[in-house]
Amino acid sequence: MAGGQPGPPCGERGMTDMKDIWLDDGLTQVPFAVYDDQDIYARERERLFQGPTWNILGLECEVPEPSDYKTTYLGDIPVVLVRGKDGVLKAFENRCAHRGALLCLERFGNAKAFTCVYHAWSYNHDGELIGVAFQNGIQGEGGMGEGFRREDHGLRQVKIAVLAGLVFGSFDEAVPPLEDYLGPDIVARIHRVLPRPPKILGYFTQTLRNNWKLYAENVRDPYHASILHLFFTTFRVNRLSQKGGIIVSENGGHHVSYSMLDPGTADDSDYDAAKLRADSEFGLKEPRLLDGRDEFNDGITLQILSVFPNLVLQQVRNSLVVRQIVPQGVDQADVVWTTYGFDDDDEELMDLRLMQSNFVGPAGYISMEDGAVGNFIQRALPGTKGETSVVMMGGEDVASMASRATETSIRGFWKAYRNLMAI
Ligand code: FES
Ligand SMILES: [Fe+2]
Repeated sequence: MAGGQPGPPCGERGMTDMKDIWLDDGLTQVPFAVYDDQDIYARERERLFQGPTWNILGLECEVPEPSDYKTTYLGDIPVVLVRGKDGVLKAFENRCAHRGALLCLERFGNAKAFTCVYHAWSYNHDGELIGVAFQNGIQGEGGMGEGFRREDHGLRQVKIAVLAGLVFGSFDEAVPPLEDYLGPDIVARIHRVLPRPPKILGYFTQTLRNNWKLYAENVRDPYHASILHLFFTTFRVNRLSQKGGIIVSENGGHHVSYSMLDPGTADDSDYDAAKLRADSEFGLKEPRLLDGRDEFNDGITLQILSVFPNLVLQQVRNSLVVRQIVPQGVDQADVVWTTYGFDDDDEELMDLRLMQSNFVGPAGYISMEDGAVGNFIQRALPGTKGETSVVMMGGEDVASMASRATETSIRGFWKAYRNLMAI
């Protein structure tokens, strides 16, 4: 290569001494190294994603019938979620025990057994190895050695727990029961937007050119919402002056941010959304986009809920979405958006949900800016060695509060993160 020694490629800072990463015991200075260090990424795979955490894998209704399966990820590790012939959900690592090929290649399907394309080893719904091609050789020659036992080569199991139709998985047998892990406030707010079995409306996948944690922070950051998102401010979907609050779980890792439209100022104007900000050059040709129905009878028009480490559950008006964060290396992540409604939705409500699904996904009126801003941070990382960001809005600790002019839930994320990572 001309021009002398190339520098280390982006995303390969490399840092081995974990205790030097954080400057202090606080939560207000986050070292930029956490977003592009390969050693930290590897440690997250071990300690967070394969540690005592519950990770969203999908929705029960995605695999409704016996033998239905879905391929997904736990962290960046591929897994298969399958409904057994007995109707019970199971999950295992999606990696053949022979030479390590991806076992199941389709996103969804129905299969009595899983057979690897490489050398046709096959597995049942419990991930047990049930068939090995030419195990006894051919005409008495070749075949597996005497020490080979099929029962030694099952697929790594994922523990499963289901809440309100959401399926969570963990590689760690010692993970606490799901409801203990979440705490009562988070459980209640999950039930709020999943009061009965959901029905899938569709999917988006958004590729983020940034570390997964920048997105995990972004969803816990109500400070930015009414500033970065022109759509929110212009059409008054979310302003910090609206009534609402933040709930942070005991361990800090999970949160809920919610708000209500103030009937005196905004809600009554929604039908005429284009006039809401006369000073804006933007208007809506279809003001019905901002119609809303108080379907949960509590006046809350926006609820963003996170579960550490990889779930976001969203209500923006009548747009209901399960978001799964999937790390894809130190400087990239996917967000899988699963939009849902309910079987008993009437035509008008379904119409609202479909129209309002334009808020989200890679080109969503709101979420496209979150995709951009994470990359703005990632691109500015090269000069940050030894430096930290500032997370002081709303104090220095982690607590639930009525004001949304706060970064309390971001500090909560780092509290849970540092505990699990032991850094
Ligand atoms: S790698 Fe799967 S059968 Fe060989
Ligand atoms: Fe945002």
